[in-house]
Amino acid sequence: MPKYMVTSALPYANGPLHLGHLAGAYLPADIYARFLRMNQQEVLFCSGTDEHGVPITITAEKMGITPMQVVDKFHSIIAEDFRRFGISFDNFSRTTRPEHMKFAQSVFLELLEKGHIVPRDMKQLYCPDCKRYLPDRYINGTCPKCGSEDARGDQCESCGTWTEPFELVNPKCGICGAVPETRDTRHWFLLLDHFQGWLEGWLGEQSDWKTNVLKYCHSWLGDGLRERAITRDISWGVPVPLEEAKGKVLYVWFEAVLGYISSTKEYFAKAGKDPEEWKKYWQSSDARLVQFIGKDNIVFHCIIEPSLLHGLGGYTLPWNVPANEFLNISGEKFSTSKGTGIGLADYLEHFDPDPMRYALSVNAPESRDSDFSWMEYQSRNNELADVLGNFINRTLKFTSSKFSGKVPEAVNDTVLLGKAEETAADMAVLINSFKFKKAIGVAMELAREGNRYFDTAKPWKSLKTNPEECAVTVASCLNLCASLAVIFEPFIPFSTEKIRRMLGLDKLSWSDAGTVLLKPDHELGNAEILFKKLEDGFEEVMNKTEISVEEEQAAPEAPETTQVDFEDFMKIEFKVGRILTVEDIKKANKLYKIEVDTGDRVRTVVAGMKKHYSKEELQGRLVSVVCNLKPAKLCGVVSHGMLMASDGEAGVFLIEPGADAKPGDTIR
Ligand code: 2FM
Ligand code: ZN
Repeated sequence: MPKYMVTSALPYANGPLHLGHLAGAYLPADIYARFLRMNQQEVLFCSGTDEHGVPITITAEKMGITPMQVVDKFHSIIAEDFRRFGISFDNFSRTTRPEHMKFAQSVFLELLEKGHIVPRDMKQLYCPDCKRYLPDRYINGTCPKCGSEDARGDQCESCGTWTEPFELVNPKCGICGAVPETRDTRHWFLLLDHFQGWLEGWLGEQSDWKTNVLKYCHSWLGDGLRERAITRDISWGVPVPLEEAKGKVLYVWFEAVLGYISSTKEYFAKAGKDPEEWKKYWQSSDARLVQFIGKDNIVFHCIIEPSLLHGLGGYTLPWNVPANEFLNISGEKFSTSKGTGIGLADYLEHFDPDPMRYALSVNAPESRDSDFSWMEYQSRNNELADVLGNFINRTLKFTSSKFSGKVPEAVNDTVLLGKAEETAADMAVLINSFKFKKAIGVAMELAREGNRYFDTAKPWKSLKTNPEECAVTVASCLNLCASLAVIFEPFIPFSTEKIRRMLGLDKLSWSDAGTVLLKPDHELGNAEILFKKLEDGFEEVMNKTEISVEEEQAAPEAPETTQVDFEDFMKIEFKVGRILTVEDIKKANKLYKIEVDTGDRVRTVVAGMKKHYSKEELQGRLVSVVCNLKPAKLCGVVSHGMLMASDGEAGVFLIEPGADAKPGDTIR
């Protein structure tokens, strides 16, 4: 029996994740892993946070904390969001773990020894003010091709040209704006051209992979693979394990793709199993490595990672890389920084995970970009309630009131159960070929069939006219409920667990669908609410009451002092927060959009501070935050709290906690 190694891209621990991430690489991987487990396959599902790279150091500087504090913070937030969404990782690791760093260093040394990595002397831009070499994307300048002044050292977004840092006219440091100098340095290069021929052959054999993935790979191969620098002159990262490379680290992608292996190693170490067992997944010809990613990661998983693994020799190569396209919102890319994202934690604050899991499965960006809208979400949520929820509910209610909550004595309708068996078989084919969107459609069709069956059989009538026939209907419908609990499980696991509880059933296997799981006299459990229907305007809870800026900022007319009960006062949740990022809001000349870390989460707060503080003055500052104010929308941005400030003749001043206070500390 093959062993399945299922992985999801390692998200950067540089901010909270949004629905786009979930739909791209995590939900589909979870559906697949759950399905395999239900089929008694040996499967391990591993991922972790990607904790190196320049953007993390930049965030740390902005926040006035260390990069380690940044990744500690976001690792916990990301892991918790995944847990709450039911993403069933067997292990969720971190690339700052010493074991991972040592492993990445050993891979570097082995490839160096095998001649796939070589040093090269080169010139690089260095910022004398920031005292650091500038990564390509942190060099700004004028595009040599189109003249746009917003080009970066890696790309000009105006004309799409791939630029080289030295080609930019008037290069400037992207961090401080200073004019960079050219300095000599030495870097180590992965000779990707060594693998061109082998990759062409190996990728040529993967005819069952998604066409979008193969197209992308062939276009890279068509351009000819070139050597790539895999070391960087920065301090945050995995140190290059060579005496002469002091101060240099491994390029984040080189070590991140190895994070899957170190996460698997951690799983076995933690589980107290044989620590060498990871090899059964990573160094075995009967292992199937299935890597879920977004389309922007294709080159790293289909070209770079296989090259590293092949270069090392003896490693399991990807069996499939079912990359997804992007989930957009109103045609735009999800981006939390641009305020166009819906954060996982923000969603979970108001709604259950399963309706979103369902909506994102039905609308998965499997072969093309898809668009998320609250309207579509509402109709998918209501479909769950009207079709699946309704069938389960009416069957259980009827059994409870007419058969004392017990399965009646009857022979089940084989035609109906046969349909369940067929559905499970069809879904298995679809899931095994990564067509989750079609699979969930087929599952819902069976729930619809259940409702049609119930309507046609009319058990409320046959109870009086033909009790035996009524018993057949009820027993068959109950067993169909059990089958539905099986086939929906990979997609909406929280709800199927409820269905099983209501039916008085334990964990089920895929092969249970279509069988008689509920025998006569079996006692059912208690009824629970499965899905709540959503009325129009339901999404307003995410943006709560609309308040105009003027209204919020109007000075109250000398109010009479009102006394407040101590209990009322204690209802206010005051916490220490640390400002992570500050952004302008379009058309608002008094407001900033501020991301504040309040220990439990990162919350967005809209604050009228623009006239009183510069962005730089705010970044990294400790503040006092009222956390449980009802969310309010200000100039299109939903604010989840308020920063406390004094307001007097001398000006407006933020109330600052003592320097040793930590985000999340309570203020009393
Ligand atoms: O794009 C990203 O979010 C990367 N952090 C994905 C890394 S996947 C793997 F290679 F580590
Ligand atoms: Zn600089």
